[in-house]
Amino acid sequence: MMDLCGKSALITGGSSGIGLAIAAEFLASGVKNILLVDVNPPESEVISDWREKFPKSRIEIHLADVEQMEEVRKAFTVFDHLDIVVNSAGIFDECDYEKMFRINVCGVINSCLLAIEHMRMDRGGGGGCVVNIASIAALEPVLAAPLYSATKQSVLTITSSLAHDFFFRRFGIQFHTLCPGATRTRFFTDSFDARCLFPEFVGEYRRKMKEYPVQEVESVARAAIEVIRREKNGSVMVINDGEITEHQLPPPSS
Ligand SMILES: NC(=O)c1ccc[n+]([C@@H]2O[C@H](COP(=O)([O-])OP(=O)(O)OC[C@H]3O[C@@H](n4cnc5c(N)ncnc54)[C@H](O)[C@@H]3O)[C@@H](O)[C@H]2O)c1
Repeated sequence: MMDLCGKSALITGGSSGIGLAIAAEFLASGVKNILLVDVNPPESEVISDWREKFPKSRIEIHLADVEQMEEVRKAFTVFDHLDIVVNSAGIFDECDYEKMFRINVCGVINSCLLAIEHMRMDRGGGGGCVVNIASIAALEPVLAAPLYSATKQSVLTITSSLAHDFFFRRFGIQFHTLCPGATRTRFFTDSFDARCLFPEFVGEYRRKMKEYPVQEVESVARAAIEVIRREKNGSVMVINDGEITEHQLPPPSS
């Protein structure tokens, strides 16, 4: 069981929603250094509240766009050492799908490669773990999100491939995937209609979306803590309607 006490963590997309909730849960679990990496700053009251509540923890904000490798590279040098990296930065935009792929897929790749560079044990790093936020849309077709689902399937594939034992034996870094179902954040509420393909079907998309139960961010944050503590490399956790279950992928073929 990994003890989170005293650890250093970097969270992309940490300024709101799921990333912010994971940061809060980390602080409550004794994580010592937290770095929020985001294009937008978090609400300042949240940070001042945390600094008051967790005076022994260092909480830093680094503004960076995950699409830009050099910006993310700088974020990875804020702390001397990192134990945990969470990649939560993501957008839903089926219309500007090139941007969505750059953020949701290339952004995760950038951060994973930097996590490996900084943490790999075969080059003097201390090992640790990376948690990538995919989606339940990586596991089942979603009418309103054919392209978004593809970005999340990529995240799942990249993460579980990097969890291969071959890499783990050399890097000492565990890679886990979280697949949340619909979660109450600003993600799907901000101008959803304008970001879907085929505006003529938006009414139908909305009807379908209403069938999904909506959970709170705390459920996803709990799953992040659970998966890190448990230390079962390559875990894929589905968090739906507040319930956390493990999804079994087939074993690697090579
Ligand atoms: N909310 C849901 O229903 C849901 C379900 C499954 C998966 N997810 C995934 O969870 C993750 C977090 O989403 P959320 O629901 O918390 O939404 P959110 O919009 O509250 O959080 C996303 C964060 O990412 C940041 N961000 C966006 N583009 C960025 C960039 N280029 N560089 C750095 N930061 C950037 C935003 O500023 C924001 O703070 C996303 O990857 C999303 O795909 C969300």
